[in-house]
Amino acid sequence: MNKAISIAIDGPAAAGKSTVAKLVAKSLGFVYIDTGAMYRAFTYAVLKKGLNPEDEKQACSIIDEVKIELLPGYIVKCNDEDVTKAIREVDVSSNVSYIASYKDIRLALVKMQRKMAEKVSVVMDGRDIGTYVLPHADVKIFQIASVETRAKRRYEENLSKGIPTSFEDVCADLRKRDYIDSHRDFAPLKQASDAIPLDTSNMSIEEVVDAILDIIEEKTGVKRLC
Ligand code: DC
Repeated sequence: MNKAISIAIDGPAAAGKSTVAKLVAKSLGFVYIDTGAMYRAFTYAVLKKGLNPEDEKQACSIIDEVKIELLPGYIVKCNDEDVTKAIREVDVSSNVSYIASYKDIRLALVKMQRKMAEKVSVVMDGRDIGTYVLPHADVKIFQIASVETRAKRRYEENLSKGIPTSFEDVCADLRKRDYIDSHRDFAPLKQASDAIPLDTSNMSIEEVVDAILDIIEEKTGVKRLC
């Protein structure tokens, strides 16, 4: 059997990582793993239980009760409930950075993420994939874009999904999440020293996907299937 290949795509919120990572995975026939969805599902479970997401002790108290599954078709389940849409709602988005800053929750989810990448080739996106989850990933990309570009993308995405928000609120939320994600003590958002930075502010999705596929081919010899 060929060695499983891992591609790490990190970067700040709404930099377009998941759209790009899904397309890259599809082009290569790899499995796409959305680690942000796992932190979101955990946040959903905390809110559903009526616990305070800003209280580390309360949030961590349910670690052993939370079962998260990433299923084909990008379906996310939390304790057997389909939470695919609910985890994109504003209440989850505005609280997920607190949950993602708690070490014990990160350790539990990172364990699952490493297991998922053990036997199959993956494209995994997140904040700490290249620095902490898969430090030996075959290719590491650090995808960035200006906060205005990211806010515009997220705002339009919310509108298309029927999620009510204002542009100003999206912008403020992104700035807050960037700050919390990059200032937490454990596995903060940071470019790995061997990651390739890619500023996508002025690139289309197709251009970003193409650029990443070229880098992957150059570094690993793996070519596009389609
Ligand atoms: O990519 P996203 O917006 O769905 O991520 C949701 C939150 O989870 C984000 O605020 C940062 C956090 N996260 C993280 O800390 N580490 C990861 N590997 C993925 C996401």
